[in-house]
Amino acid sequence: MRELAEKSCFIFFLILLSFQSVLASQKSFRQPKPCKHLELYYHDILFDGTDAANATSAKAANQTALGNFKFGMLVVFDDPVTKDNHLLSPPVGRAQGFYFYNKKNDYNAWFAFTLVFNSTENKGTINIMGADLMAEESRDLSVVGGTGDFFMTRGIATIKTDIFQGAKYFRLKMDIKLYECY
Ligand SMILES: *[C@@H]1O[C@H](CO)[C@@H](O)[C@H](O)[C@H]1NC(C)=O
Ligand SMILES: *[C@@H]1O[C@H](CO)[C@@H](O)[C@H](O)[C@H]1NC(C)=O
Ligand SMILES: *[C@@H]1O[C@H](CO)[C@@H](O)[C@H](O)[C@H]1NC(C)=O
Repeated sequence: MRELAEKSCFIFFLILLSFQSVLASQKSFRQPKPCKHLELYYHDILFDGTDAANATSAKAANQTALGNFKFGMLVVFDDPVTKDNHLLSPPVGRAQGFYFYNKKNDYNAWFAFTLVFNSTENKGTINIMGADLMAEESRDLSVVGGTGDFFMTRGIATIKTDIFQGAKYFRLKMDIKLYECY
């Protein structure tokens, strides 16, 4: 009797083990391949009060007195987006949205914007938002939706700072992988 119990216990254990490995292999299976991949550059020229002809973003709310890292400062932008890292390359779209600084003891930001495409290649929008953890070299933002050519899309936009020239100009490299395309 005891032997039988031990045997069935062992069999049960085997079943459990194989079930788990099925689950594990399903998990690695589900790691999707992107259905669309875009590599774009984002250029931000912050208005300094004199360069209205060139500036593409402006401080819309001043920083607070909390800490020394611009906590609360809000910047609204309508930035050109290009295929290569040249500011003067013809834009393939625009990034329209805002970021604000949100860390008391270091620089850190939060982004929300829409990539607006209106070219022969692409028409539509991609909506992107998330924490810009500035201490990290590479940051992942969520692609939360889209319209037109990017109807109902979702994915990940990985951003890296390509160049940073003080408060005046910075450029981000955006590596956008979409996992839902219709
Ligand atoms: C605008 O940008 C161009 C190209 O970088 C530069 O040559 C020009 O001096 C800038 N104009 C102003 C007003 O900043
Ligand atoms: C913005 O805030 C900073 C720091 O509190 C202050 O020095 C500056 O005068 C403020 N600027 C404006 C336009 O209120
Ligand atoms: C998109 O481009 C077309 C053709 O150049 C233009 O007529 C239209 O106004 C543009 N739409 C937007 C939202 O920029």
